Amino acid sequence: MKAIRFHEFGEVEVLKYEDVPDPVIGDDEVLVRVKAAALNHLDLRIRSGKSPRPVDLPHIGGVDIAGDVEAVGKNVTDVKPGTKVVIDPTVKTPKGPMVVGVNFYGGFAEYVKVPAVNAVPIPDEVSYDDAATLPICYVTAWYGLFDRGNMQKGETVLVHAAGSGTGSAAVQIAKEGGAFVIATAGSDEKLEKVKKLGADATVNYNTHDFAEEVKRITEGKGVDVIFDQIGASIWENNLKSLKMQGRILLVGVVGGGQTTFNFGPVIVRDLSVLGVTVFNAPRSNLINVINLVSLGRLRPVIDKRFPLSEAASAQKLLEDRSQFGKVVLNP
Ligand SMILES: NC(=O)c1ccc[n+]([C@@H]2O[C@H](COP(=O)([O-])OP(=O)(O)OC[C@H]3O[C@@H](n4cnc5c(N)ncnc54)[C@H](OP(=O)(O)O)[C@@H]3O)[C@@H](O)[C@H]2O)c1
Repeated sequence: MKAIRFHEFGEVEVLKYEDVPDPVIGDDEVLVRVKAAALNHLDLRIRSGKSPRPVDLPHIGGVDIAGDVEAVGKNVTDVKPGTKVVIDPTVKTPKGPMVVGVNFYGGFAEYVKVPAVNAVPIPDEVSYDDAATLPICYVTAWYGLFDRGNMQKGETVLVHAAGSGTGSAAVQIAKEGGAFVIATAGSDEKLEKVKKLGADATVNYNTHDFAEEVKRITEGKGVDVIFDQIGASIWENNLKSLKMQGRILLVGVVGGGQTTFNFGPVIVRDLSVLGVTVFNAPRSNLINVINLVSLGRLRPVIDKRFPLSEAASAQKLLEDRSQFGKVVLNP
């Protein structure tokens, strides 16, 4: 089969479109013909060797995958060849979660093998491209906001980097949950698009102090929940933006993973700092977002599609922070 594989860590140039032996399935696995694989920031970190999740080389990335089951192992009875599926990338093991596209070869290829239990059927009305956007970004948003953040209807939520794959999902899911959403991004152009996703207020964090803007928008009250993918560079402003008993969801660290931590405000204002890792999310989160997409209540945002062979250009788009929402590869 054709696949995008890298043999060393580095810039996008290490991505090679090459012939790779077809995966051979075990008795409890299925072989999936990949129709769409969505990109994540995680793919860039893995390729550059900067991910805290180590991978063996050579490697085929691609965590977000949708396609058709082509063949099943001899113990597999509940998934049939021909079934349209999205892959839940988290393989539960006694040692903790292992991830398709990280610990195993992923979906930047014509075929991928996964445990049968990880192949989740999708209805006809959900396209392969839309389905491929769901397992990481939409599940992270659901798991973060509801399971970790206990977000309630009527609360105010601040979503950072709302033009990212995960941010564009979080805006929609927070609105679906009945929140008032303040969204930030790095350009007015992205913010115009974020408004169309339902954000109630927007702030350009490159031209404005977002903590001041949050204060103005909330009339000094602050927000209940922050969905943060940026981290250290905005930590102080995040603390200033939270109301009493507010919760901050730490999702990503594109702006740095270390800072000094003043316990004072956290203690005296009863704040909660919560980590979020999608690989701990229950499978039901993925089912929920698939159902909402099939009902038209969530609309995955796809900026651009590329053929598999152009994976390097696709990753470059993410690296340049130019995309809005998701980028999808089609083998
Ligand atoms: N914890 C989890 O389970 C989980 C799950 C999914 C994603 N994540 C994390 O969430 C973050 C976003 O992932 P994604 O795939 O949604 O990302 P993405 O689509 O590639 O978007 C990242 C966006 O972050 C913004 N940004 C702000 N400061 C940045 C900086 N210093 N460097 C680069 N970008 C910066 C940029 O938007 P502007 O131009 O608008 O600033 C950029 O487009 C990543 O850190 C990822 O690892 C974590």
